[in-house]
Amino acid sequence: MPTELSLRQPDDWHVHLRDGAMLEAVLPATARQFARAIVMPNLTPPVTSVAAARAYAGRIREALPPGSRFEPLLTAYLTDHTDPAELERGFRAGVWVACKLYPARATTNADAGVSDIEALTPVLDTLERIGMPLLLHGEVTDPSIDIFDREAVFIERHLAPMLQRHPGLKAVLEHITTSDAVAFVRAGSGELAATITPHHLHINRNAMFQGGLRPDFYCLPVAKRELHRLALRAAATSGDPRFFLGTDSAPHSRGAKESACGCAGIFNAPFAIESYAAVFEQEQALDRLEAFASEFGPSFYGLPLNSGRITLVREPRQVPRRLELHDSAGQPVELVPFHSGETLPWQLS
Ligand code: DOR
Ligand code: ZN
Repeated sequence: MPTELSLRQPDDWHVHLRDGAMLEAVLPATARQFARAIVMPNLTPPVTSVAAARAYAGRIREALPPGSRFEPLLTAYLTDHTDPAELERGFRAGVWVACKLYPARATTNADAGVSDIEALTPVLDTLERIGMPLLLHGEVTDPSIDIFDREAVFIERHLAPMLQRHPGLKAVLEHITTSDAVAFVRAGSGELAATITPHHLHINRNAMFQGGLRPDFYCLPVAKRELHRLALRAAATSGDPRFFLGTDSAPHSRGAKESACGCAGIFNAPFAIESYAAVFEQEQALDRLEAFASEFGPSFYGLPLNSGRITLVREPRQVPRRLELHDSAGQPVELVPFHSGETLPWQLS
């Protein structure tokens, strides 16, 4: 069994870095491991214009630890009123690299999302023409659909017809949670890929109810049955380049999670690569971790591979139950990390 693992530096193809004090508190955790990250635009207000994206990129760079070379890759938030010309302008200027489709009200700060996906045709025509990827939160919001079925129904009702109408569209089904999503991506063209989070590889839906209500395991799309978790693990470790790393680390303060109406989101950034390494080791696929974490993402996005390297060492370490992080003014922000209180076998050295 290896005791050290050297990997090309990975990227995170889906993360929530937030803004203000939370950004300052959580950014170092991501920048410590990843060279680049696709940054979600669901701020309040959401990032819908080129000017807002430029300004947000500036705030991220300002919040970086001194000497960090982390590169944020910005995304545009689609609404019912998105102007395709604005998307193209920001894409050609290199301000944003993709756009994000949240079905309206599907999740945190998705109120301004898209209420009529079929009406997006002019936007999708533009994306297809310019090669700008569409990142999807793939869940229907129809309240009559059981929450555990919302991803599968989204694929059937919206994604399959969309890709039929736009066969050249580059799309990423984000944070997939079902065997249905795995099968759909496998059956698709190379233009359709998916990101997989560490938490959906580790937990099934029982985790939310273990010994009582566990808000730290609540995220959207919600974790599903064990058979789905196993399908995700098989996909992530299969060596299929259409499945790659995206943490969906989504920090909310402990108070916001542990409240009468707790927020959806799992903060996995502090030990993300260690969390994936544990899964790949359990699946006897450590030799495939580097491609999943550091190669398939850049090749989908047409970006160069990172030249830097990271080293993981096999030294079990207990994850703190809580993290008290600080913003630049020294104000504390309390967060519960994913794997809180558990021991992970690998550590980033
Ligand atoms: O659990 C989630 N949290 N899922 C999302 O889609 C959004 C995210 C957030 O921004 O908190
Ligand atoms: Zn997300």
